[in-house]
Amino acid sequence: MCGIIGIVSQEYVSSKEILKALKRLEYRGYDSVGYALNDGTVEKDTGEISDFMRRTKEKNFRTGIAHTRWATHGGVTRENAHPHTDCSGDIMIVHNGIIENYLEMKNKLLEKGHKFRSETDSEVIAHYFEDKLNNMDLKDAITDFIKEAKGTFAVLMIKKGEDRIYAFKRDSPLVLGIGEKEFYLSSDIYGFSDKTDRAIFFNDDEFAVIDKSYKFYDKDGNEIKKEVKRFQWGFSEEEKETYDHYMIKEIKEEGKAVRRIINSLNNEQHEKILKLNKMIKKAKKVAFVASGTSYFAALLGVYFLNRVDVESQAIIASEFRHFIRVDENTLVIAISQSGETMDVLKALKFAKEKKAKIVSIVNVPHSSIQRISDLSLEILAGQEICVAATKTFINQVSLLLYLANLNGLNVNLNNLHRRIQETIDNNESKVRQLAKTLYRERDIYVLGRGLTYPIAREIALKLKEISYIHGEGMMGGELKHGTLALIEKGTPVISLIQHEDYEMLSNTKEVEARGARVIKISNDEKINPDFYLKTSKDEKFAIAATIIGQLLAYYIAKEKGLPIDKPRNLAKSVTVE
Ligand code: F6R
Repeated sequence: MCGIIGIVSQEYVSSKEILKALKRLEYRGYDSVGYALNDGTVEKDTGEISDFMRRTKEKNFRTGIAHTRWATHGGVTRENAHPHTDCSGDIMIVHNGIIENYLEMKNKLLEKGHKFRSETDSEVIAHYFEDKLNNMDLKDAITDFIKEAKGTFAVLMIKKGEDRIYAFKRDSPLVLGIGEKEFYLSSDIYGFSDKTDRAIFFNDDEFAVIDKSYKFYDKDGNEIKKEVKRFQWGFSEEEKETYDHYMIKEIKEEGKAVRRIINSLNNEQHEKILKLNKMIKKAKKVAFVASGTSYFAALLGVYFLNRVDVESQAIIASEFRHFIRVDENTLVIAISQSGETMDVLKALKFAKEKKAKIVSIVNVPHSSIQRISDLSLEILAGQEICVAATKTFINQVSLLLYLANLNGLNVNLNNLHRRIQETIDNNESKVRQLAKTLYRERDIYVLGRGLTYPIAREIALKLKEISYIHGEGMMGGELKHGTLALIEKGTPVISLIQHEDYEMLSNTKEVEARGARVIKISNDEKINPDFYLKTSKDEKFAIAATIIGQLLAYYIAKEKGLPIDKPRNLAKSVTVE
């Protein structure tokens, strides 16, 4: 997590520019913010970037670095905010990642008399270089750092008086953007995608020195040539326009986003999805790997493939190596919106060591997960700014439905975007009313079976992260094995009932009989649901039901006045284990 940005410009620009660029990375963390300029200025504080921007005085600069923090080592305090400096204040750094052996490094530096001001692991980097510069140049010091440091890092470093940024990384993402009159260094392309579409991606243990031009080096300090890549990223969808929050804007973009992915799978990405299908057929074992919301998409992937007689499994990324054996006959399919989730990356590195084939399904092009894959498909949902995944989940599921459809699953995807729009148009105001009656609840249970089980989990996750309500999404059949004890008069239970799913109906009756307040979401009119979703009777119901859950989490959170786009303690790109 954490977002870092650096600018080296040929002309003077305002410090607001670096903060504006940083704001584009705010979804990576938003506990604290700060920047450093090469005249020695360091400004930092806790809180959000917009407030910080209002408070700090504008200054012109040509070389600067900035950081938005998601705390790992050390609380949310001004001292722990980045940038960090050495004892003299001449060396300034921002860091994303975790230096695992920082205590060992710090103790050595303390013995030499260095004075530390924060509780972070990151500060050790500035002092390390101060110490090294006593007897070597900075380039050699970076190669030493890469050899000595354990853990993950993307670091930007400047020295007072120099128009130059030193940048190095391992496992945390870092990319150089090449503009007309300036260079950008950023945790991801979104930091500069409004300024340029040309970028160079750092590989692990590489470093670069950027001033009027740029030079890249390997870990031993040998210069290397790097390819400049052009990327495409949806510019038109970035502004919040007239919506109160990005979350509702992004939910309302779902129809458009789905149309884009289905079109692309029919055209530009058609060869790729056919190739994926071939790889699935050839593999002896197929395993999806993902975290959070993307994991629920993966579970649906297993369900869809099962319907067409293809066996697969879905494993939570952080548990991957404990729960599966992989070899050269295994196909691992990673699903990740950001393409940067560390748990997923680690699982893929493990799978790669065992010679498994790797396919990824990502939203962000050129992301780390995409770059280590043998084949990668893009879900083309456009930038998603709200921390909670909404339209990206719908596009992940749509892609998986398309894959199952290729194998014979009878589902009409040509009208999916219209069904999505109808679901929103026909239900939004009713969901808003429901939210007014639920926002004081502490717990909400969400039940599903088969197709609707992953959706129950996803709706519960949305309730937790956005509405701060304990949502429990579970298999209807599991109720009687324990959880039923918690159902009492008035307990809210959302029941997801697929057309003619009589077992799910029985589970719904079981909670009704215990006095639960049941909210039925179904595509079966006969059962008289609270939300009748007129999708056809096929798997599209999963998508429509998810949308009701997304809207509900949104309107409950709005009713409670919560920070919907940036929920507490969370970040969009989870680059720590
Ligand atoms: C929930 C949410 C997270 C992510 C998870 C994986 O709304 O957004 O649970 O789904 O952190 O992220 P990606 O898909 O980027 O790997």
